Amino acid sequence: MSLELALLSSHAPSLLHEDQVPDFQQSIVKAFHQQREKIKQVKPDVLIMISSHFLTNWNHYVDATPRHEGYLTAREHPDMIANIPFNYPGDEELGYQLAQAGKDAGIPAVAFKEPTYIWDYGVLVPLRYFVPDGDIAVIDLSCNMSASLEETYRWGQQIGKVLRESNKRAVLASSGALSHHLTRGRANMPSLAEKALDDKFIEFLVEGKYDSAWDILPQFSAAADVESGGRHVAALLGALGNDFNASYLGYAQSSGSGNPHFSFQPK
Ligand SMILES: [Fe+2]
Repeated sequence: MSLELALLSSHAPSLLHEDQVPDFQQSIVKAFHQQREKIKQVKPDVLIMISSHFLTNWNHYVDATPRHEGYLTAREHPDMIANIPFNYPGDEELGYQLAQAGKDAGIPAVAFKEPTYIWDYGVLVPLRYFVPDGDIAVIDLSCNMSASLEETYRWGQQIGKVLRESNKRAVLASSGALSHHLTRGRANMPSLAEKALDDKFIEFLVEGKYDSAWDILPQFSAAADVESGGRHVAALLGALGNDFNASYLGYAQSSGSGNPHFSFQPK
């Protein structure tokens, strides 16, 4: 088995610069550090990142660019995230294998090699904690907004299959919030009802009840506006199957969204 570790992570823009993170999000900084340690322990060749900010139509995209290099200024808030350099190796071979595995299952997955493609901060914020030295290959994956949660779950199953069968040591990370009904005010919590849904979903993962987590995801996503409509979570659950134990590492709010961090280790 070479899917060595999986992660669920957040990416609030206020986390970009570690020395500027507000007090109410320090639990996430601590979780990022724990995730970084777990990544170091498994010595991965490649990190695959599902980004809930890489929202695409029609196809599930796989960024198989051999080197990801550029500067990110975020469209959503160009004052907070401006001109941030990134430079990471990619993995063209594995990227194309992932897309082919999607196609084999009848899923429209498309790999691309495009050196001018600029990452979103859903990729870059966690990566700055996970791989601060830029020394692990990265493949980023989109969330396809034309796909149902069921199709996205099957795509996740194909991703998990390829990574388990690969001779490369892989970490799969999913970047996105749970409840995501955004409100103005960075310290705002989700509503009580949204927080209750977050808590229940987290409880299912902690207890290893992945089938129950998957069962509630459609209604949870609709009721609490889960980021990417829940697709980054559906793909992660598909990839995990029932072979992983979850460790809950922390949670913090950001502008009304709920942001848990998890690591998942093979049983
Ligand atoms: Fe986001």
